[in-house]
Amino acid sequence: MSGQVRITEVGPRDGLQNEKALVPVEAKVAFVDALVAAGCPEVEVTSFVSARWVPQLADGAEVMARVRRRAGTLLSVLVPNERGLASALEARADKVAVFVSASEGFSQRNVNASIAECLERLRPVARSARQAGLPVRGYVSCVVRCPFDGPVEPSAVAAVASELLAMGCTEIDLGDTIGAAREEDIERLLEGCAGVVAPSLVTLHLHDTQGRATACAERALRMGVRSFDGSASGLGGCPYAPGAPGNLATESLLAAVERCGFSHGVDAHAVARAGAAMRQTLTRIQRDSAAGS
Ligand code: HMG
Ligand code: MG
Repeated sequence: MSGQVRITEVGPRDGLQNEKALVPVEAKVAFVDALVAAGCPEVEVTSFVSARWVPQLADGAEVMARVRRRAGTLLSVLVPNERGLASALEARADKVAVFVSASEGFSQRNVNASIAECLERLRPVARSARQAGLPVRGYVSCVVRCPFDGPVEPSAVAAVASELLAMGCTEIDLGDTIGAAREEDIERLLEGCAGVVAPSLVTLHLHDTQGRATACAERALRMGVRSFDGSASGLGGCPYAPGAPGNLATESLLAAVERCGFSHGVDAHAVARAGAAMRQTLTRIQRDSAAGS
């Protein structure tokens, strides 16, 4: 196999939203700058969600204002509603991501709304973002298993993906939010969604809960997936998904991509250094707060 694989670095958003520590703006900006300099074609910088729900990312506007922009790298942000989109436009995001769960239990816990209500809420968001000329990523979360409802059928994922495409999303990102997938689940998922979105047009977002994420990525590569999310140093998870300890580390993902004969154009050592520096920052914050308490 050969060809180019596209990597989206989600550590600054999906990684840091799940760390207990509140990371200072300067450290976040340095993290994003390092990931951009490493050649990641897209970095998901932050989210514009309720600070009550995700206090770790309450400083998103300041981070976006201070990061260095570089031609060839998209700076994207996650938004849950029209207010989030307004903040994203003000912050001059290059791309936005909306998110919907394939399971009702996670939808309620994550955005306090049913799947149908969430889709309704996102229709004007996608429309306005497209009118503003921005590409829109549509995440589907809990694509294999929900921490509240249990197993999720590929048909449920395909139904949500279809709605996201219909509202104008330009990309479908399938998220194994709690890292429950084994290789055969990924195969079933991609086959079950192929009628709505071909594997070559899917982005896969894996968590490494059971140590199977790189094997899942390799199976997906063999099935035609050419776009993946990674989080430097495996930072993160999801605050509303118990059992989601770490995202697939970008370094491990890059190694898997190379093993399968693909190129990715990202400096893996630079990503590893950026992730290690952020881990040191997190450790220092936790140590200081333990010493102060
Ligand atoms: P709600 O409590 O139902 O609704 O939250 P609300 O309208 O009453 O809003 C609550 C408060 O947030 C209000 O302020 C609003 O003004 C404010 P308060 O009265 O408390 O002062 N608010 C906002 N503030 C800033 N920006 C906004 C915004 N909207 C409302 N855009 C809501 C509903 C959707 C807002 C909330 O549930 C929320 O923000 N949820 C986001 C949770 C989240 O970010 N989860 C993690 C991301 S998803 C994920 O990680 C999965 C993924 O990685 C894929 C995978 O792993 O599979 C994508
Ligand atoms: Mg995630």
